[in-house]
Amino acid sequence: MKNDRIFSDRITDVPRSFIREILKVALNPNVISFAGGLPNRDLFPVDALKEAACRVFENQGRDVLQYACSEGHGGLREYVSARYREKADLDIPVDNILITNGSQQGLDLLGKTLVNEGDAVVIEEPGYLGAIQAFSLYRPTFLPVPVSLEGMDPDALRMARSAGRPKLMYTVPNFQNPSGITYSDQNRMELARILEGTDTLLIEDDPYGDLRFSGRARTSFKHLLPDNTVLLGSFSKSLVPGLRLGWIAAPSALMQKLITAKQATDLRTSHFTQSMVCEYLCNNDADEHIRMICDVYGRQCRAMLAGMKRHFPSEVSYIEPEGGMFVWAELPRHMAAMDLFDLAVKDGVIFVPGDPFYVRGSRHSTLRLNFSCTDVETIDVGIRRLGTAIRKLMGRPTEQCNAVEI
Ligand SMILES: Cc1ncc(COP(=O)(O)O)c(C=O)c1O
Repeated sequence: MKNDRIFSDRITDVPRSFIREILKVALNPNVISFAGGLPNRDLFPVDALKEAACRVFENQGRDVLQYACSEGHGGLREYVSARYREKADLDIPVDNILITNGSQQGLDLLGKTLVNEGDAVVIEEPGYLGAIQAFSLYRPTFLPVPVSLEGMDPDALRMARSAGRPKLMYTVPNFQNPSGITYSDQNRMELARILEGTDTLLIEDDPYGDLRFSGRARTSFKHLLPDNTVLLGSFSKSLVPGLRLGWIAAPSALMQKLITAKQATDLRTSHFTQSMVCEYLCNNDADEHIRMICDVYGRQCRAMLAGMKRHFPSEVSYIEPEGGMFVWAELPRHMAAMDLFDLAVKDGVIFVPGDPFYVRGSRHSTLRLNFSCTDVETIDVGIRRLGTAIRKLMGRPTEQCNAVEI
């Protein structure tokens, strides 16, 4: 394109996914990557999904290839509703569930339906880059509120509220991406008290909630703020991401608008993939599959934490997650994770520096390490390389480590 004026202001304002750029380096086989955010492909139930697909064709034939209703596959919506009842003691009627192309589409539809230019939106700091991107298209004013070990900072939320009367508050309260933090029950109750009686809608995005390998489940915001909470869910982490299936559970009035937005966007999510997943869920034990994922991720996470304890200088702190796919680490404040990245690449290991997860500031000292796609032996080698790079950044003597060809 010769002229940049052709692009809308909307798209020009959206931050590019820096992570995609980093992942190009990960293609080098000599590099150990903790940079991705992908589920472990070795755990995908390929044979069972293949069987489900064949059964769908046998049983439904041409009908499964036809257009279908915008709200989504009835059986799949019933499954989601029943699972909320069984696992979280939540009563979410089927009519309040909209199947989407991943929860990422849920974020876009919520932005489309609710956000006018300049509207205040509370987001976590650090926060999920995909949410920052999705909402940015609707040009809100972001109000970043820090999260730490217990969850979101209540005082900072009070300040954000009085500064901007936020329309939305976006949270990932279980094994947050990027920090791995789980909000405590006490923190959830305090945040709910702050929002109670206001017109701020809370979005609880929970793609990782099933992936708990230690500790106990916490109370959903839907119990605490039943009328003002929208739930986002996904089959990406508990089954496979490639079929692009997620959902929104929303109050009825919002639901009608979301369906209109969904129709305007893509009419509906693929009827075939929904039928296939529904068939899979009817004939397989989803909980057993999830237990297997948790078992593997738990081992990988423990290997990463043990490696950090062994190989990192004591000044580097990190958060031990109870589930999910990420460990969040912090260098001493004056050090930039971006500088560490340049050294680490040369030593054959990559991660995501914290910067893309913040809407303000730069040269942050934090970094995100993904453990779901790397086996425990490789995790130890990668963390040792990273420890060496950190020592180099600190100007300290390093363990012997051969530079890697990249
Ligand atoms: C917090 C969070 N929300 C939403 C998504 C999008 O997931 P999907 O669209 O695959 O359901 C992701 C993906 O990594 C995520 O980390």
